[in-house]
Amino acid sequence: MKGKLKRFEIISQRENVLEPGKEIFLKIKGHWNEYYFKRERPITLELACGRGEYTVGMAKLFPERNFIGVDKKGDRIWKGSTWAVEDKLNYVAFLRTEILFIESFIADGEVDEIWLTFPDPRPRQRDIKRRLSSSRYIDMYKKLLRPGGYFRFKTDNTELFNFTLEELALRNDLVDYQFTHDLYHSHLRPECYDIKTRYEEMFAAKGEQIKYLRFRFSH
Ligand SMILES: C[S@@+](CC[C@H](N)C(=O)[O-])C[C@H]1O[C@@H](n2cnc3c(N)ncnc32)[C@H](O)[C@@H]1O
Repeated sequence: MKGKLKRFEIISQRENVLEPGKEIFLKIKGHWNEYYFKRERPITLELACGRGEYTVGMAKLFPERNFIGVDKKGDRIWKGSTWAVEDKLNYVAFLRTEILFIESFIADGEVDEIWLTFPDPRPRQRDIKRRLSSSRYIDMYKKLLRPGGYFRFKTDNTELFNFTLEELALRNDLVDYQFTHDLYHSHLRPECYDIKTRYEEMFAAKGEQIKYLRFRFSH
């Protein structure tokens, strides 16, 4: 069996991947701690997780928390799922879905923290609404977060970052809002734990500065 198909076959058997065709996939909304993690702990969600470097990296740093990585591509999730199995990270799950449908899988206030890591920049004007840091997505993330939970966003892409800053400037519901265009030389660096994703490695090697922002919703 060829690479991608083999990976799809593997994740279809993996308990730590929730995807279409599995019974738990349609039942999980509002029940992550009860049905999947089987312990009541704060949940961190990584969106556009790709291979899930943050999900897996933070699960090692914070064994007392629960983690969900979300991506629509099964062959990328396969990698993170494999790392989690190899490292016996039992409180890691991967959810395979289009993020537009995330509210079908996460209940209001169900997660404690959201990371959005290096989403596709979608530079074309007609794709503005599809940018994962555009206002309609931020409004969705607000619903998923428990009151006071942090939203964190990392990217190499200057246009996407500036676009996001402009979107956020229109809001009046942000507190503890801080950002940097140069994370590696910022006081905010420690809160990213020096975890580097695949895309971060690629773009940092090309000399791109890594941008980061975070905030909480006030109401
Ligand atoms: C540029 S990659 C970054 C992956 C990883 N976070 C990293 O930094 O290496 C963007 C990821 O977002 C996923 N993605 C893009 N749009 C998505 C969407 N609407 N729903 C779910 N996943 C999406 C892609 O499949 C891809 O894995």
